[in-house]
Amino acid sequence: MIAPRRFSRLRIAAFAAIERLAVLLGGRAIYRRRHLRRDRLHVREEWIEVPDLPAELEGFSVAHLSDLHAGPFLGRGDLAGVRSVLEELRPDVVCWTGDFVVHGIHNVMPLQEELASLVGARATYAVFGNHDYLHREEWRFVEVMEPAGWRFLRNASELLEVGAARVGFCGIEDPEEGKVVDVEGAVRGLLGAEADEHPDLIVALSHGPRAAPEFAARGAQVVLAGHSHGTQVDLPLLRDLGPSHPGLRVELGGTTLVVSRGLGVIGAPLRVGVPAEVVVLRFRTAPRGGGG
Ligand SMILES: [Fe+2]
Ligand SMILES: [Fe+2]
Repeated sequence: MIAPRRFSRLRIAAFAAIERLAVLLGGRAIYRRRHLRRDRLHVREEWIEVPDLPAELEGFSVAHLSDLHAGPFLGRGDLAGVRSVLEELRPDVVCWTGDFVVHGIHNVMPLQEELASLVGARATYAVFGNHDYLHREEWRFVEVMEPAGWRFLRNASELLEVGAARVGFCGIEDPEEGKVVDVEGAVRGLLGAEADEHPDLIVALSHGPRAAPEFAARGAQVVLAGHSHGTQVDLPLLRDLGPSHPGLRVELGGTTLVVSRGLGVIGAPLRVGVPAEVVVLRFRTAPRGGGG
């Protein structure tokens, strides 16, 4: 759907050299101390107002996590701060928007037990990001996490019943590296023939934020995305090295796009002006008569 980015050999070699040097200098321990400790992690609260929200969904909460990037700078034992945040928030649902690894799915396998403890009270949903398809072994991660209650939305959806209310979650393969990316197919299972068969709320997951308008056109109230790391290093020139960042919260008509700054890093264990974060979305009824 979106042409994958490909870098020159020179740029790849330069990145690899920087990464090796940062590892030798203790980059992982530095990153954990500076960005993943409970007192360093940023918790961002986003209220989402939805017209005619059923009473059961008043205060419904979704924790949004993204871009873990397990690998040279994040490994087993580094998620205590994240777990502590989730224990405080106790979200109904946890959503992961991809990029679990840096170099291949083997990076995240040692973290499977820690990740299995990071689940929502009602459900945990995930989509993959561009990095996760390296060597096409993402199925190995699915195989170990689904028994822990995670559900991977691969051009697919699931309906969650909250009392008499219904929340639809849908997600797509990564817009750059997925073999088949099917927004229509992802949403289809949620949309019955009659309007009153539709869920009260639709939350869409896409690693890349650029798929958001397509979900908006199909009735999603919220699109969760990652990929940009919020620029990772918010300095002139450096902020433009990574994927384009549309903003942390973008309103698209009746749809809100929420872009996570992510948890991990690529290239160097460095974040400047961009904290690692957990986003928590809380839903409430939109006030009536406010001009639409
Ligand atoms: Fe990423
Ligand atoms: Fe990405």
